[in-house]
Amino acid sequence: MSKLPIAVLISGGGSNLQALIDKIEEGILDVDIKMVLSNRAGAYGLERAKTHSIPTCVLSHKDFKSREDFDGEMVRILKETGAQAVVMAGFMRIITPVFLNAFSGRIINIHPALLPSFAGAGGQTEAGEYGVQISGCTVHFVDEKMDNGAIIIQAAVPAMPGEDVDVLAKRILRVEHRILPQATQWLAEGRLRTEGRFVKLGLADVAKAEQDTDFPCLINPPLEYGF
Ligand code: GAR
Repeated sequence: MSKLPIAVLISGGGSNLQALIDKIEEGILDVDIKMVLSNRAGAYGLERAKTHSIPTCVLSHKDFKSREDFDGEMVRILKETGAQAVVMAGFMRIITPVFLNAFSGRIINIHPALLPSFAGAGGQTEAGEYGVQISGCTVHFVDEKMDNGAIIIQAAVPAMPGEDVDVLAKRILRVEHRILPQATQWLAEGRLRTEGRFVKLGLADVAKAEQDTDFPCLINPPLEYGF
């Protein structure tokens, strides 16, 4: 099967990027990361990319007069790499129609909360401080509103009363590392059909994976083999 050429956008540590790289190297994620682009120069994810010989680019939003100008330059750079889809893996910027239209229907984002609750930056902290009993994470298509597009996969992760939000965030992150590669693989397989707010997952000829987390967790749609 030919690999889907993608770009990954980051702003920070890049542990979700690492999860993608790991699944590619395990041979179960059929994408080719053409470029990792960060809007922050010091993002550790850039080092992760370099370690795996993936081309990187730093493009600071501060160097542009408008969001549209920044997005236009990202589009120019990413199109040159041959990327056909974009995975936002901890990219802390709202994108404009300039970017959306260039990769229409082929941009996905990971968010560390059960959308539509706790959209925006710091979703895990807000959920933890609110006192929810169940938090989680979401992979969704990106549209013009923040953390709003049609939902591809979600994982529900219990929050323990009084627990430190950092501990909850770490547990959520471990599940992010499974659902983001899975959603990316579904995108690569062309199995995601969007009807309004609904994403329908085409059937696959693969075994379902064990939901083998060592803490209670519900993931839907269920993960497939290897994720
Ligand atoms: C992740 O928790 C991701 O869900 C979140 O940023 C973190 C990046 O971590 N994204 C958002 O909050 C987007 N609204 P990473 O750099 O280690 O992958």
